[in-house]
Amino acid sequence: MVLIVKTPQKTNVSLKRDISTDEVDSSAEFLILEPAGYPMASLLDDYPEIENPGVFEHYAREQWNGCVVCKGEYLFDKRMYPDFAYRVKEVEPPESVIAANTSIVVNDIETSSTSKVEFRTEITFDDVVGQQIARQKCKLIERYLEDPERFGKWAPSNVLFIGPSGTGKTMLAKALANKTHVPLLPVKSTDMIGEFVGEGSRQIHQLYDRAQDLAPCIIFIDELDAIALDRRNQELRGDVSEIVNALLTEMDGIVERPGVCTIAATNRPASLDPAVRGRFEEEIEFVLPDEYERYSILESNLATFPIDVDDIDLSYFASKTVGLSGRDIVEKFLKTALHLAIMDDGKVVSADDFNTSLKRISKPVAPLNPDGLYV
Ligand SMILES: Nc1ncnc2c1ncn2[C@@H]1O[C@H](COP(=O)(O)OP(=O)(O)OP(=O)(O)O)[C@@H](O)[C@H]1O
Ligand SMILES: [Mg+2]
Repeated sequence: MVLIVKTPQKTNVSLKRDISTDEVDSSAEFLILEPAGYPMASLLDDYPEIENPGVFEHYAREQWNGCVVCKGEYLFDKRMYPDFAYRVKEVEPPESVIAANTSIVVNDIETSSTSKVEFRTEITFDDVVGQQIARQKCKLIERYLEDPERFGKWAPSNVLFIGPSGTGKTMLAKALANKTHVPLLPVKSTDMIGEFVGEGSRQIHQLYDRAQDLAPCIIFIDELDAIALDRRNQELRGDVSEIVNALLTEMDGIVERPGVCTIAATNRPASLDPAVRGRFEEEIEFVLPDEYERYSILESNLATFPIDVDDIDLSYFASKTVGLSGRDIVEKFLKTALHLAIMDDGKVVSADDFNTSLKRISKPVAPLNPDGLYV
């Protein structure tokens, strides 16, 4: 077991490690934990649900103050739920000491989407093909997240990504978080719509409270249209209009939250509530890839195929996949070709596999024949 205790006499952590804290001089900025459970099965193995993340954070800092933590290690609770383990999912800087100013977050899979924080994603800007305008905006947001104070009241706080499904909106938000080393709070809009009236708006405010604690950080609201519906449609669901109001309050910055940048994404901008839409200082359009970009997406993804690929003419397939999004190219065209090859001889993906896959994609959907409905 690997856990360092800086001042064992002061802490309740019972495990010692052999690295001295003298070797680790940076204090941790962030610590993301996930519940791991008890070391042994017992009757008391209920997961201790965290009622108030802010209070838990104070408690956790005090309890683990001085511990040196690395990704993948465990921290054990010694007071409230003795021996309950939390696994360190992320820590920044990578090996650092828990201190009085360390932000400690528990990503709890069981509870609402608002509690999940992603820290370091695998995606980089180099992975995102094209989308130059969006990249430029991200460069600006990057500057802001590096030094929020420099921008004062001129912060880029609300940005809307618009564009067809599968064009890289989520990818780019993740790449931005990765590049700036700031936490990303991803929100799936549909998860915000709670079971009870008032729940959705409470979740929005909680989300922003949390973001403020973690700032600088990015809130990424995917499928914004699901919660920020046009008012005409909101009447269908009373709770949605509460969410819209909560969102408007937060986006107006009534409570100042420096260092928090909201990026929202939608592929149905026309169905957005105009008041919400108007709060975004900029709408950034994502477009379908052109031929050159499709070539690039094909090339980079082929390089990750688990089996060899025949010498194929990529420019031919780039020219034949017009109208497909990045996701279509990866998930439909390339995946189908690979699966065909695996089902065939499993050794190499041939030009035939790609051609068959292409035919499947371009095959028009047969029109529904009403006569066939009545036998
Ligand atoms: N610009 C791009 N460059 C490289 N790959 C891309 C690009 N756009 C999409 N892809 C591929 O498609 C997948 C899905 O992209 P992503 O999730 O970012 O789309 P999205 O725009 O957020 O879609 P949605 O609107 O449905 O949420 C990516 O994981 C990647 O494999
Ligand atoms: Mg997305």
